[in-house]
Amino acid sequence: MLKAVNKAIKDLKGSYAISVISPLFPKKIVVAKKDSPLVIGKGEGENFIASDIPAILNFTNTFYFLDEMEMAEIDANKVTFYNINLKQIDKPLKSIEWDAVASEKQGYADFMLKEIYEQPKAIRETIGSKFNSENDINLDIDLDFTKFNKIYIVACGTAMHAGLATKYSFEHFCKINTEVDVASEFRYRDPLVNDKTICIFISQSGETADTIAALKLAKEKGAKTIAIVNVIDSSITRVADYTLYTHAGPEIAVASTKAYTAQVTLLSILSAYIAEKLNIKEVADELKELKKDIAELPQKVEETLKVADQIKDFSQKVFDEKDIFFIGRGTDYTVSMEGSLKLKEISYIHSEGYQAGELKHGPIALIEDNVTVIGVATVPGIISKTVSNLEEVQTRGAKILLVTNDSIPESEYKNIKDNEKNTIVITPTTSSYLSPVLSVIPLQILAYNIAKAKSLDVDKPRNLAKSVTVE
Ligand code: M6R
Repeated sequence: MLKAVNKAIKDLKGSYAISVISPLFPKKIVVAKKDSPLVIGKGEGENFIASDIPAILNFTNTFYFLDEMEMAEIDANKVTFYNINLKQIDKPLKSIEWDAVASEKQGYADFMLKEIYEQPKAIRETIGSKFNSENDINLDIDLDFTKFNKIYIVACGTAMHAGLATKYSFEHFCKINTEVDVASEFRYRDPLVNDKTICIFISQSGETADTIAALKLAKEKGAKTIAIVNVIDSSITRVADYTLYTHAGPEIAVASTKAYTAQVTLLSILSAYIAEKLNIKEVADELKELKKDIAELPQKVEETLKVADQIKDFSQKVFDEKDIFFIGRGTDYTVSMEGSLKLKEISYIHSEGYQAGELKHGPIALIEDNVTVIGVATVPGIISKTVSNLEEVQTRGAKILLVTNDSIPESEYKNIKDNEKNTIVITPTTSSYLSPVLSVIPLQILAYNIAKAKSLDVDKPRNLAKSVTVE
């Protein structure tokens, strides 16, 4: 069977991860892979195959990883590895620190809810692994950052939104032009990337096909590549020049929550690290503040979770809606995008995330009596602008959920607060570069409660997979 599979894969084109069984050899499985992920979990008198680690964490935490064009012959007690020429090869067995308990619901109704509540821990552990006791950052990236004139952040879905949220921080603190792109777009055009570009790839699973392809393209073009990944030893980590891990623990729900907030935290740490290496005097004081704010995030996330009951009440009013709009400016806009994605993924309500200033350029035509508009307004200096956009939709009959923070005087949003149709949710205050970590939480809880109110499966929404290993 091994020889037959070997012969067959030589004829295959494209990417694959296959397992083959035959009634002639009922105790064996032969596996092979190219460009698609495949992990082998080692058990006692049993072995497992899967496309990623979390799928089989309940059974084992020791794994073998196949490289491109490699094969394995597996039975209950033994795994034997081969290269494409059927020469036997050795593979190290790796232990993953995640344990089975971490991938159980632990009394929560759903994984998504558990993962929402795990965010303080996920962020604390992500920070803890990168800050020492003096608040110094050590990321072990031995690049001379003065040699780079551009940062590209590339990812898909929620991971891309984490990139959008932190573009502001890279540009402000590092003074390097930063672009954010969707991996499936980046890989099929001719992006301006060269040896003066740092490309950052973000992925919870580390297995997203488009993100891996974009990473390979950036390497071919000479860029230095940094991966921000959650799943240890996943495919992306084996391609990137440097890997920084978020320590969010296994994320099982398809809708990403704790991975996003851990990614925003880690990317902010990376921006501070690069800025420190560049020694840019004009932001030195602000940088100290940013690091202090990062260190305080876990506690503030804990406080933000207290908005849950208020959001649950609001969800009861809107769960039957057909359309919901999310607006914001700056980093608040990027949270609007993420809130909108979360809602459509698990509640199947059509929604749009928009820059508040763009309303007048088209979308305001969709606002009519009783439509729901969610405004995120936490960035000092532009809050009054977003509030004024919310007043415009209020005039047209919209009901509003405003997410703001406790440093903003109520007078700034008095007209919104005074309308009994509206709801105001207040989070703790942090740097506007970090505020997505806090302001996304009410939106995650909103999406969750709306999906529950509609009796939907929040952990496994229709048509979606946790790891998108095909393009
Ligand atoms: O594993 P990745 O972070 O690379 O996945 C990227 C997207 O597929 C993922 O974020 C997706 O958008 C989530 N379902 C969002 O909740």
